[in-house]
Amino acid sequence: MIMTLVLSSYKFPLCLCNSIQWWVHRYLRHQQKMVSRKVDLRSDTVTKPTESMRAAMAIAEVDDDVLGHDPIGLELEEEMAKIMGKEAGLFVPSGTMGNLISVLVHCDIRGSEVIVGDNSHIHILENGGIATIGGVHPRTVKNNADGTMDIHLIEAAIRNPKAQLFFPTTRLICLENTHANSGGKCLSVEYTDEVGELAKKHHLKLHIDGARIFNASIALGVPVDRLVQAADSVSVCLSKGLGAPVGSVIVGSKDFITEATRVRKALGGGMRQIGILCAAGLIAIKENVQKLQADHEKAKQLASGLYQIKGLKVDPKSVETNIIFFEIEEDYGISLETLCKSLEERGVFMMLESQIRARIVLHHQISTSDVHYTLSCFQQTLSGIQVVNGN
Ligand SMILES: Cc1ncc(COP(=O)(O)O)c(C=O)c1O
Repeated sequence: MIMTLVLSSYKFPLCLCNSIQWWVHRYLRHQQKMVSRKVDLRSDTVTKPTESMRAAMAIAEVDDDVLGHDPIGLELEEEMAKIMGKEAGLFVPSGTMGNLISVLVHCDIRGSEVIVGDNSHIHILENGGIATIGGVHPRTVKNNADGTMDIHLIEAAIRNPKAQLFFPTTRLICLENTHANSGGKCLSVEYTDEVGELAKKHHLKLHIDGARIFNASIALGVPVDRLVQAADSVSVCLSKGLGAPVGSVIVGSKDFITEATRVRKALGGGMRQIGILCAAGLIAIKENVQKLQADHEKAKQLASGLYQIKGLKVDPKSVETNIIFFEIEEDYGISLETLCKSLEERGVFMMLESQIRARIVLHHQISTSDVHYTLSCFQQTLSGIQVVNGN
């Protein structure tokens, strides 16, 4: 209305005023749409429950899980144990608690030691819970770029049981598959078996942080139960690429799960009517495992596109699953932080891991069109810099 008045005061014919107004409107709506588009690549934990999950949650039959009677909780635990080829399962609130409970059960004597990767989630990102809560001493072994630890280094890190006067007692080895901080790298079944054999030889247990074990299984083309066959316990996240809102399931022998249930209660992880959450978890394993392949393909597509953009450092060949790390060339004229902020203004979100490295994670709620949009946002932001620099 105001625009019509302004334009008509400049003696524009009314029909022209209307048409200009229409075009301005369209432009503003387009801009608004552009800004309101959100491509959230911070993590695969940002997924929202699907319609079928919400429907299943709404009608979930529930009971008290701490008393052992929540029917959907029991169904999910049994189903996950079956898929993983283990005797029993236990629903826990998070991957962090799944790992903590597993370590505490395997290292039930204070002063036990666990061999973990120096770049593993358990060691870096779980608040040192195994030490502060469990009194378990971490012995780190260097993680290689592919997420493995050299077998001879693991063996060398195992304490001599005859020198217990000085040393803590090694009781557990932990692997992480896929290995998040190495860019979602898959540990092969041969490697996992070899670590399992080493563990057996020294009477140790093997735990796998399998937050993204289904990603590894799909990428390697190895059935998930075979991939974790050598492990005494596995912690599997439902709330990463599988898209459930909350929860993980730990699996192992019946005795392990009995003890894990006790430790879960002690940590405050007994949650009563868990069926509402487990209903989403059941949908996650029924409907979303097969979507992971597409996430991996989109990650490769995005990484290849980023590789073509001047100023970025990314290795598309290193992308095995759904995680991409990239850096910005030194002296390119824009910091990684500024680049990420500029992308956020265009609705593209990613995780700044350090001053020089950022992380992108693909998940099933990112479409191919989102991948193209993300690439165009990178291109627009960085080509602006090139003009400024005259590169
Ligand atoms: C490899 C790995 N393990 C464990 C976890 C912990 O899961 P949660 O966030 O559910 O505690 C994460 C979380 O991102 C992870 O990436």
